[in-house]
Amino acid sequence: MTDFNETHYVFKAMVVYAVLIADVVVNAFYEPPRPTLLEVLVNKPAIIRRAQSHVKRRSIKKKAQLAWLLRAVACTDITTLAGDDTDENVRRLCAKAKSPIRPDLLAAIGMEGLTCGAVCVYPSRVPAAAAALEGTGVELAAVATGFPCGQTPMHTNVQEIEYAVACGATEIDIVVARELIIAGEWAALYDQLVEYKKACGSAHMKSILAIGQLPDYRMVYKASLIAMMAGSDMIKTSTGTESINASLEVSLVMVRAIRDYYEQTGYMVGFKPAGGIRSAKTALGYLSLMYEELGHRWTKPDLFRIGASSLIIDVERQIEHGLTGAYAAKHYMPMS
Ligand SMILES: *[C@@H]1O[C@H](CO)[C@@H](O)[C@H](O)[C@H]1NC(C)=O
Repeated sequence: MTDFNETHYVFKAMVVYAVLIADVVVNAFYEPPRPTLLEVLVNKPAIIRRAQSHVKRRSIKKKAQLAWLLRAVACTDITTLAGDDTDENVRRLCAKAKSPIRPDLLAAIGMEGLTCGAVCVYPSRVPAAAAALEGTGVELAAVATGFPCGQTPMHTNVQEIEYAVACGATEIDIVVARELIIAGEWAALYDQLVEYKKACGSAHMKSILAIGQLPDYRMVYKASLIAMMAGSDMIKTSTGTESINASLEVSLVMVRAIRDYYEQTGYMVGFKPAGGIRSAKTALGYLSLMYEELGHRWTKPDLFRIGASSLIIDVERQIEHGLTGAYAAKHYMPMS
């Protein structure tokens, strides 16, 4: 078990194991946990004020808005996580991910070839999705580790990750053990996530904190840091099944943890809000939050994703409106 009481930690990971992919240093290995990073006080009223003023202040001009809408599409993890998912509906979703916006609209603005960031499915649907996405550049994310509740034993969780990766998943959205966070068992949480990271191999690990089930913002901040120290390439707010989904407030806490972690280690870890994000306006709110808090680099699909099942419908309507001045009825833009 990792010892959190040690006062001195050898800071070996980032230099030795950093993997340089394009211009991104992927969070490819585990930093020995540093307890001092966890000593944090989160000023909740200030966070809430900042999030509220973000909503009020934000007004993106028309032309820029179109560009940001397209960016939101590129950053979407188009998701289906239902008991009645079939290979057939997953294939339809993959077709949507490959061509999320009407080609004639994209051609009008020279943006042919725009795709979603990823398709997100259960492990059993990965083989069908992998076949459908082959050669498209769209990433394939599988949820794992007993999604959404994470109440399954470690060995089956690891097997689940390995299965999904073997079938072609390039990203694994894992759920963290909430009971460890609530009990403040940071060392155990760290060790568990390191196991998951090893099982992911070269697939990116996206850690779902399920913030709706965490008692306060400090826990959210600490859990974010532990998840990053253990090698998460992205931290994600929610499974979409808790009674509280992503919010700007809690996102701000996570995003600031990402910033602190970056300042301390040089690793860029991504952020994925998920759950209940349906409107283009909400998606743009998150994008501009990334821009303001972390900078332009964090508005690209390798460091920012929006997990959503029906967001693209509204974004497509807004793009059409931006280009033609008219809204299409929703039924003209079927999801699949
Ligand atoms: C959270 O998100 C899920 C998935 O989008 C949605 O079904 C649910 O209604 C949302 N819950 C709340 C409280 O907004």
